[in-house]
Amino acid sequence: MSDPTPIPDAAVEAATDAALAAVTEASTVAELKAARSAHAGESSVLAKLNAELRNVPADQKAAKGKLVGQARGRVNQAIAAREAELAAAEEAAQLAAETVDVTAVPSRRRLGARHPLSLLMEQMSDIFIGMGWEVAEGPELEHEWFNFDALNFDEDHPARAMQDTFFVDPPESHLLLRTHTSPVQVRALLSRELPVYVVAPGRVYRTDELDATHTPVFHQLEGIAIDRGLTMAHLRGTLEHLARQMFGEEARIRLRPNYFPFTEPSAEMDVWQPNAKGGARWVEWGGCGMVNPNVLLAAGVDPEEYQGFAFGMGIERTLQFRNDLNDMRDMVEGDVRFSAQFGMVV
Ligand code: DAH
Repeated sequence: MSDPTPIPDAAVEAATDAALAAVTEASTVAELKAARSAHAGESSVLAKLNAELRNVPADQKAAKGKLVGQARGRVNQAIAAREAELAAAEEAAQLAAETVDVTAVPSRRRLGARHPLSLLMEQMSDIFIGMGWEVAEGPELEHEWFNFDALNFDEDHPARAMQDTFFVDPPESHLLLRTHTSPVQVRALLSRELPVYVVAPGRVYRTDELDATHTPVFHQLEGIAIDRGLTMAHLRGTLEHLARQMFGEEARIRLRPNYFPFTEPSAEMDVWQPNAKGGARWVEWGGCGMVNPNVLLAAGVDPEEYQGFAFGMGIERTLQFRNDLNDMRDMVEGDVRFSAQFGMVV
């Protein structure tokens, strides 16, 4: 029987198992650091067993030395492997936490706002719908006949001249960008049975420079009523109703004689705007008159049997005086901050 060895195999095995278990259990880099100092540090069981090597008899020294050396090597290897694993996991977790989803929908999405010109055209059209009228549309790229000839413009009327009208090449096409919504009067008469009560809101074009009070692209609202026995009194009553709906019960209109080729008599219409910012005032609003018999004839209507009235006004101009805006350019720039002042109606 030999002396009890200062380094029993079982002790080495138990210390190794304990060390490996602690390494496996470490689930963070900090826990692994603690396991390392407990099981591989200077005061660890394995370090102490190693220190016993000097008391081991010479014939067992090599074997015990190998046993302890291998045990310590396994533990250190396990620590290094676990360290790499934990470092990789921690890095992955950090990257996941910092992920930026570039496709994510921003939470502060701004709502758009409908353009005030669209809202105003709709509001005005609705007032006519309330009186039983229909809403009609016509093309913006229009034939010269509808824009001028059928509306009783002379061949040499100044509005036909190049400085007002965008003509479209080739000239033989006789196409142009409509300069007003009045051609829809003729289209409405040609495409409907009488009587006709129609409003036509829409975009029109003129060769104006963009400035505070002009824009080469703008909008108008046209109206035409053709029936038996219509008179200027009906025209007046209709426009006054429109004015009151838009500007309040105290609103009035007044007519001043004017000339338009497509109406006879013709008038300039002013509105009494009771609620204007600087105080109540008269404002020029649009043109109107009794439809010229030549227009009715061009549209195949017998002027002996049917008569009526027509009117037209600018939408930009209406928005400008209704809301006391001083620069028309704000209306064409499409900045949502301008539109939003008029409500976020969708
Ligand atoms: N078309 C005219 C313009 O653009 C406006 C107008 C005046 C329309 C009189 C009408 C009307 O229907 O009767 O200036």
